[in-house]
Amino acid sequence: MASVVLVTGGTGLVGRATRHIIETEPAGSRFGKRDGETWIFASSSEADLRDPEQTRKLYEKYKPTHVIHLAALVGGLFKNMKYKLTFLRDNILINDNVLHTSYTHDTKKLISCLSTCVFPDKVEYPLDENKIHSGPPHDSNFGYAHAKRMVDVQNHAYKEEFGCNFTSAIPTNVFGPYDNFDLEDSHVIPGLIHKCYLAKKNGTPFVVSGTGKPLRQFIYSYDLAKLFIWMLREYDDVEPVILSVGEDEEVSIKEVADAIVKAVGFKGEYSFDTTRADGQFRKPASNKKLLKLIGGFEFTPFEQGAHLHPLSK
Ligand SMILES: NC(=O)c1ccc[n+]([C@@H]2O[C@H](COP(=O)([O-])OP(=O)(O)OC[C@H]3O[C@@H](n4cnc5c(N)ncnc54)[C@H](OP(=O)(O)O)[C@@H]3O)[C@@H](O)[C@H]2O)c1
Repeated sequence: MASVVLVTGGTGLVGRATRHIIETEPAGSRFGKRDGETWIFASSSEADLRDPEQTRKLYEKYKPTHVIHLAALVGGLFKNMKYKLTFLRDNILINDNVLHTSYTHDTKKLISCLSTCVFPDKVEYPLDENKIHSGPPHDSNFGYAHAKRMVDVQNHAYKEEFGCNFTSAIPTNVFGPYDNFDLEDSHVIPGLIHKCYLAKKNGTPFVVSGTGKPLRQFIYSYDLAKLFIWMLREYDDVEPVILSVGEDEEVSIKEVADAIVKAVGFKGEYSFDTTRADGQFRKPASNKKLLKLIGGFEFTPFEQGAHLHPLSK
């Protein structure tokens, strides 16, 4: 049957990865394009999803039967702390418009994107799908976190009142091509790649903030794209699913920096500025639910992903 899959945020890190996978995996395969499917990757210039009228026009233009909702105001720690109300309000507006227009336009299925940063600050680890609402989020990103948490609440309400097939995915830290490499406002991997690239170019030391000891789970954007495609086709429940590598695949910031030094071919002075804050030591998330449902998935090993990253070449 013909279907139209609309990907909001189709021009971002995860959106472009989804496009890459759909266009390069063998047609008809588990993650490849299927017969009768049309994929639309929308940008904010086509429709500002904070605006209900523009959202409605986008849906009327494409008549999506399925939606992967990735669009969000996303940013690093500094931006989140400085613009709490903007993060709260823009994301509430974007999400409310996408969810409600999906309902009014009879979208058969909608998967929205949360993040492991929305989990409570004080919580027992590992994180799992049942702990999203069990305490306030970290103060630094409470605007973004509360807006994203509401999507889970709305998904349940749309299901209970109108029987909608809405759900959400919870990825951990994502990295890959088309990341945001801004030095001030990027996530750790693209930020360090940019710093190391500049150190090599300018013949200056490569200094990594903190001790390098904290551990994180990173998912390669192409793997995440496959998991979204899997959810779209094979997962039909309102409860969210954490999309992450396993807890035993945590990587230290030092390992990240080592991989970047190797990939960039940086031979200069390389050190850690231990006077800078480290952040939380670890915040592992469990991928047990995902693995049980999907029946096994081969994640791209971190080191290999780091070498596939375009700026690292
Ligand atoms: N990156 C991570 O480590 C990470 C981790 C966990 C969860 N996530 C989640 O994953 C999703 C995708 O993140 P990403 O890293 O791919 O983000 P990204 O690279 O910053 O891309 C954001 C996307 O959202 C679109 N967008 C922003 N504001 C919009 C608006 N008002 N109207 C319409 N579109 C708008 C952007 O469109 P334009 O570029 O055209 O402006 C862009 O396509 C987000 O929901 C994010 O919360 C990301």
